[in-house]
Amino acid sequence: MSKKRKIRVGVIFGGRSGEHEVSIVSAQSVMKALDRKKYEIIPIGITKQGQWIAGSAAIKFLKSGIKKLPFKSVLPPDPTEKHLVKVKEKGLTPVSEKKPEITSVDVIFPMIHGTYGEDGKLQGLLEMADLPYVGTNVLGSAVGMDKIIQKQLFKQAGLPVVKYDWFLVLAWRQNRKKIISRLEKNLKYPMFTKPANSGSSIGIGKCHNQQELILGINDASQYDRKIIVEEGRGGIAEIEVSVLGNDSPKVSVPGEIISSNKFYDYDAKYVDGKSQAIIPAKLTKKTIRKIQAMAIKAFICLDLSGMARVDFFVTKKGYQIYLNEINTIPGFTSISMYPKLWAASGLPYAKLLDELIKLGLAKQQEKNQLATSYQPKKDWYK
Ligand SMILES: Nc1ncnc2c1ncn2[C@@H]1O[C@H](COP(=O)(O)OP(=O)(O)O)[C@@H](O)[C@H]1O
Ligand SMILES: [Mg+2]
Repeated sequence: MSKKRKIRVGVIFGGRSGEHEVSIVSAQSVMKALDRKKYEIIPIGITKQGQWIAGSAAIKFLKSGIKKLPFKSVLPPDPTEKHLVKVKEKGLTPVSEKKPEITSVDVIFPMIHGTYGEDGKLQGLLEMADLPYVGTNVLGSAVGMDKIIQKQLFKQAGLPVVKYDWFLVLAWRQNRKKIISRLEKNLKYPMFTKPANSGSSIGIGKCHNQQELILGINDASQYDRKIIVEEGRGGIAEIEVSVLGNDSPKVSVPGEIISSNKFYDYDAKYVDGKSQAIIPAKLTKKTIRKIQAMAIKAFICLDLSGMARVDFFVTKKGYQIYLNEINTIPGFTSISMYPKLWAASGLPYAKLLDELIKLGLAKQQEKNQLATSYQPKKDWYK
């Protein structure tokens, strides 16, 4: 019997995002845990400048921050190719003209959080190249990144969200007085100022008065052209659940985050190492069931697939639930919530990765069955 060829998994990390560093740590955990008996792993790093470098040295180069790479890798958006080509650092000349070095990949595991990785742009390139990949498609990724559009869709689906308002940075620059008075009329302090597209709490501020509100909006404006301002909820537990699947997703037990800072900011998430997770979260059975049902509804409402971590605020008094946001490429270190919630629900880390790869391949198969051309009765266009 011939030995089955291993599945070649390209794990993509780094990227042009404020979450570049987090992504490297997530990808390292994924690559360490992928079963070598089943998979051949191709690390694919993307620098902060957006250059791709595939191969075993990718992590080292990204961590060193060196701008001059020994070579680059290119993924052509041509579906008949499905491989990476090694090219010279300058220009797009193959490293060897006579024997261009190419690496084929069977499936991509995108592990880039935030812009150019979690927001549908990378997924668009992979769709063009016809490469199967783990996680959500272009639409779900893009909407999942945009805190304004997703809240509009959640509201429409009857899912509870906090009170919010939003505006363009352009409008802020033109008439900040008008915006401030609108915000102060409609929302109570403290308010949270956020760039519409961000993650890891980058650009997010908690504002207790008008002065802080102005500073918060100015800070958020560095990251996006759209700003969302939310009414801050006090006395809340931050509850997260993991969703896994394509068209019939399943949901994990919930976990609670106990933040080491006043709110769950970048330092509390990654740097000080003092935030804690309580798994499973101590909630009533009824509240757990409600949260799980809402998480599935949110996943379907945004047309997601593969995986998502769905985050909630639950008031400690009265157990009022608010859907905060959805993350389509959640943190994936061995201590991250997404895999930990699955481990607590009976699916260990390595098995979770198997499942995600299977789901990515299944989605591709399903897509391949759809017609992509139409044969007109006459060649009318010639
Ligand atoms: N409306 C709010 N009320 C209370 N706390 C909030 C609110 N919005 C954000 N926070 C706090 O800020 C953190 C980050 O906000 P979030 O919208 O989840 O952004 P990110 O996508 O960067 O994780 C939350 O985990 C929470 O601690
Ligand atoms: Mg969050």
